[in-house]
Amino acid sequence: MTTLVLLLLLLLSVTEASNSNGQWQLLQKSIGIVAMHVQLLNNDRLIIYDRTDFGFSNLTLPNGTCRHDPSEKVLNQTDCTAHSLEYDVASDTFRPLFVQTDIWCSSGTTVANGTLIQTGGYNDGERKIRSFTPCETCDWQETDNALLVKRWYSTDHYLPDGRQIIIGGRRQFNYEFYPKINSAEYDKPYVLPFLFETYDKGVENNLYPFVFLNVDGNLFIFANSRAILFDYQNDIVVRTYPEIPGGDPRSYPSTGSAVLLPLRNLEAPSVEAEVLICGGAPRGAFQLVPQGVFLQALDSCARIMITDPNATWTVESMPMGRVMSDMVMLPNGDILIINGAQLGTAGWDKAMEPVLEPVIYKTNGWVGSRFVLQSASSIPRMYHSTAILVRDGRVLVGGSNPHEKYDFSNVSYPTDLSLEAFSPYYLDPQFSPLRPMIVEPCSHANVTYGEKFKMGIEVNGTLVPELVSVTMLAPPFNTHSFSMNQRLLVLSIGQVNVTGNWTCEFEVTPPGSAVLAPPTFYLLFVVHQDIPSEGIWIKIQ
Ligand SMILES: *[C@@H]1O[C@H](CO)[C@@H](O)[C@H](O)[C@H]1NC(C)=O
Ligand SMILES: *[C@@H]1O[C@H](CO)[C@@H](O)[C@H](O)[C@H]1NC(C)=O
Ligand SMILES: *[C@@H]1O[C@H](CO)[C@@H](O)[C@H](O)[C@H]1NC(C)=O
Ligand SMILES: *[C@@H]1O[C@H](CO)[C@@H](O)[C@H](O)[C@H]1NC(C)=O
Ligand SMILES: *[C@@H]1O[C@H](CO)[C@@H](O)[C@H](O)[C@H]1NC(C)=O
Ligand SMILES: *[C@@H]1O[C@H](CO)[C@@H](O)[C@H](O)[C@H]1NC(C)=O
Ligand SMILES: *[C@@H]1O[C@H](CO)[C@@H](O)[C@H](O)[C@H]1NC(C)=O
Ligand SMILES: *[C@@H]1O[C@H](CO)[C@@H](O)[C@H](O)[C@H]1NC(C)=O
Ligand SMILES: *[C@@H]1O[C@H](CO)[C@@H](O)[C@H](O)[C@H]1NC(C)=O
Ligand SMILES: *[C@@H]1O[C@H](CO)[C@@H](O)[C@H](O)[C@H]1NC(C)=O
Repeated sequence: MTTLVLLLLLLLSVTEASNSNGQWQLLQKSIGIVAMHVQLLNNDRLIIYDRTDFGFSNLTLPNGTCRHDPSEKVLNQTDCTAHSLEYDVASDTFRPLFVQTDIWCSSGTTVANGTLIQTGGYNDGERKIRSFTPCETCDWQETDNALLVKRWYSTDHYLPDGRQIIIGGRRQFNYEFYPKINSAEYDKPYVLPFLFETYDKGVENNLYPFVFLNVDGNLFIFANSRAILFDYQNDIVVRTYPEIPGGDPRSYPSTGSAVLLPLRNLEAPSVEAEVLICGGAPRGAFQLVPQGVFLQALDSCARIMITDPNATWTVESMPMGRVMSDMVMLPNGDILIINGAQLGTAGWDKAMEPVLEPVIYKTNGWVGSRFVLQSASSIPRMYHSTAILVRDGRVLVGGSNPHEKYDFSNVSYPTDLSLEAFSPYYLDPQFSPLRPMIVEPCSHANVTYGEKFKMGIEVNGTLVPELVSVTMLAPPFNTHSFSMNQRLLVLSIGQVNVTGNWTCEFEVTPPGSAVLAPPTFYLLFVVHQDIPSEGIWIKIQ
């Protein structure tokens, strides 16, 4: 009986929610650089950067700081402009940062102490590792030759032991770790034949592979149209998944995107994990662009249970074709598919017809009614655009179409320096009576694996204890339509005890191991009737 009531309530809240399609707001006409790579840190600042070798940006470095790299092809002179900045979400302000070498098309992850460790780039930056520690005045620190080989268009993933793995990159069919802990790791990178097998000559189609830490400790790696389950500790492919239906490529430059769907029932003897891959470009699309032929992007999403030894793909259709879209996990477990184009592929001037409308994928909706069209932005967000969730539940969107010398005219899609916010439906004032607020614990609480802790929430309206849930999200590093390390866990909660007309408290069980949630800072949200609270930061160890 109660199950039926719950189901009805949930249906009501879902129907109600879909009446609103989100709102756009222009935050900054120009932040001076292209938001090509972005990471949220646990002080609610975004670290944003583009590249150092494309000309002068529109943001000047402070204190007469300049860089000069004679090996640069586009700009062979002293550059006193910034190519990175720190954006403060709360105050909507930013300060320039100084990167000394080229960070173009690089990758990164935040680690246990909240520091961003960024890897690779181009030219003088290709073997660099840079770190950025969250603080008021911090700036980039660079380490030379920290990588064994060039890492340009590689993917990083943060591991349960607090290290990161760096996989692939242009003409790199291998992986390595950072930091390295034994002589074998220092010696040479580990060869990964899968990257060679998925390499399309002249096109690649296997760059920025989609990598997720599976609940069994192995890595799910998807490149081009294929996927493996990889035991990185023993350098063994443990499973080869069937090719994605249709066989079209989903990795750069036929850029689709991918997410690990919310992990639930974390105390079950065998936790299940599913991956969703959406969009991309048909095989051959990249080669046709120089002839002026822009093929329709793929409208398919394929979903697979990666923990199932006999896994198969289930295909669903988005309302439109999309290439270069980002998939952003929302605090309530739904997926926002945002940015991108309908024709062509990733790369310079290789796409047309921007898709201005995001789509929300209702993770738990019924097949056939999972995609909900959202309101349109007015700004194309195509090649080198980004999207990132911030603590208050908005998704910040920036970048697109950087041109040599930051060309703002005489091109179909000029360099875009703006920053916008997309506020999903759950932020509408109509949902204020449902929106919970976390009153306990306070932000930056420390949490131990498997050790229950108490939470208290408040709602300015009728609280339905049965429709309270708790989620925990690892803020990703976003670039080239892929959010590395993006991971959302639905935590189990104890009995919800009503303590007042609008307040309640309950116990929450954090994940039991670093394999489920590698040790670092996460955003913790409470969701009530599908409407999430603002997040608080927790550190799990
Ligand atoms: C770049 O800066 C110049 C000079 O400050 C300004 O005129 C121009 O509008 C800026 N362009 C963009 C796109 O912000
Ligand atoms: C610039 O120099 C001033 C004076 O030395 C110093 O107070 C300030 O922190 C510097 N700013 C940056 C961003 O380095
Ligand atoms: C940059 O300029 C220096 C001297 O001005 C020259 O030696 C060097 O070859 C130039 N590099 C490129 C890539 O043009
Ligand atoms: C944070 O951890 C990184 C990686 O282990 C290390 O390089 C850095 O020094 C640490 N930062 C602080 C402030 O402890
Ligand atoms: C795997 O799938 C095949 C074909 O669908 C089926 O015949 C087989 O029994 C399945 N094996 C397992 C272990 O489920
Ligand atoms: C505009 O672009 C066209 C084609 O690339 C070029 O021929 C022309 O010179 C450009 N005009 C200006 C003013 O830069
Ligand atoms: C409830 O309303 C009060 C007063 O308007 C406000 O300060 C508080 O943040 C609201 N709480 C929630 C959970 O929205
Ligand atoms: C969490 O632990 C760190 C030390 O590891 C401490 O500095 C911090 O104050 C703790 N946070 C809270 C909210 O107690
Ligand atoms: C709950 O609401 C009732 C009726 O408005 C009020 O009398 C009572 O004091 C409230 N209780 C609490 C704990 O706020
Ligand atoms: C909620 O109530 C139950 C039953 O009285 C109790 O066992 C539990 O500890 C309470 N939870 C919290 C967080 O107080």
